[in-house]
Amino acid sequence: MSQKKLWSGRFTEPTHPLVEAFNASIGFDIRLYAHDIKGSVAHARMLGRQGIIPKREADAIVKGLLRVEAEIRDGAVIPTAAHEDVHMFVEGRLTENLGPVAGKLHTGRSRNDQVATAFRLWTRDAVDRIAGSLRRVQGVMADRAAEHLDTLAPSYTHLQPAQPIRLAHWFLAYYDMFGRDAARLADARKRVNVMPLGSAALAGTNFPIDRAGVAKELGFAAITTNSLDAVSDRDFAAEFLFCLALVGTHLSRLAEELILFTTAEFAVMELPDAFCTGSSIMPQKKNPDVPELFRGKSGRLYGALMSMLTTLKGLPLAYNKDLQEDKEPVFDAARQVETMLELAADMMAVVKVDTGKLAARAEKGYMTAVDVADR
Ligand code: ARG
Repeated sequence: MSQKKLWSGRFTEPTHPLVEAFNASIGFDIRLYAHDIKGSVAHARMLGRQGIIPKREADAIVKGLLRVEAEIRDGAVIPTAAHEDVHMFVEGRLTENLGPVAGKLHTGRSRNDQVATAFRLWTRDAVDRIAGSLRRVQGVMADRAAEHLDTLAPSYTHLQPAQPIRLAHWFLAYYDMFGRDAARLADARKRVNVMPLGSAALAGTNFPIDRAGVAKELGFAAITTNSLDAVSDRDFAAEFLFCLALVGTHLSRLAEELILFTTAEFAVMELPDAFCTGSSIMPQKKNPDVPELFRGKSGRLYGALMSMLTTLKGLPLAYNKDLQEDKEPVFDAARQVETMLELAADMMAVVKVDTGKLAARAEKGYMTAVDVADR
């Protein structure tokens, strides 16, 4: 690809040798490529429909974009820091394949509304995947509850023996937590699913674009109303990260109980070997690594939320390059939560319960004191 930058028109001196790599986001935003292209295809079709560019050229651009998508998917083109970001990479490749007509794709659009759109499309998919995983964990909790309707167990306040409960009650506590997490994501999705495209750099565009038509094609439920806000609004990402942070909180509470209940001291549950590792020095040990990592990763998820809030704090309108820092925390937090939820579902389906020991514990420590007093 050509080394000349798309924005190099007014520049007379080369950039500092470290700036290219420092400024580049392609290393992480390449994962937006399919969403970026989806947005571009809808935009190009609209430009043709509205007669802003000739229909024939719009068709060529759409075909070209789909080819670039396949090239990236197949690894036929490899991005480098010189490409700066995924948007320049895609457009640069499109230009190589199609020639100057590719430049018309940028009509009535800027990278500012383009990146906000691609990021929202990506986040919407992630919300849907994670909500699905939460439902799966809930299903496992419900199954285990059904299996343990008649299993007596101790319950605790202050981690001191409190009252006897059915073990189903315990499983269903987590069912409810993950249910709220899924509902919270469904609510956040409404604010994710609003289309900023058409805001252009920050002040909109004079071309007779059809925002509603593009939104419909992309499955957005609404369009943003203020272009200054739309290009710099990352509330949707902060909200998504809060949802993930709270999933992390719930997973770490579950993890802590599993760690406790599988100790030699409690010994009322056992984790299958598949979720544990051994010690390199103490052969008797079976360590609950998976729950420990659940507990540990909650810190990382809170960090992602803090990082996003801090990036947004004090940011003047409208787009600022600070906003490029929005993506890594979101990608990382989503990946961690997705993996943890898969593991949580598989692990909770097979965690072993010592029903005899649980029942015996439920009978000790004056746990029925309340019931005796009530009677
Ligand atoms: N890579 C940039 C980001 O992630 C894309 C937007 C760049 N816009 C600009 N005016 N430089 O935020």
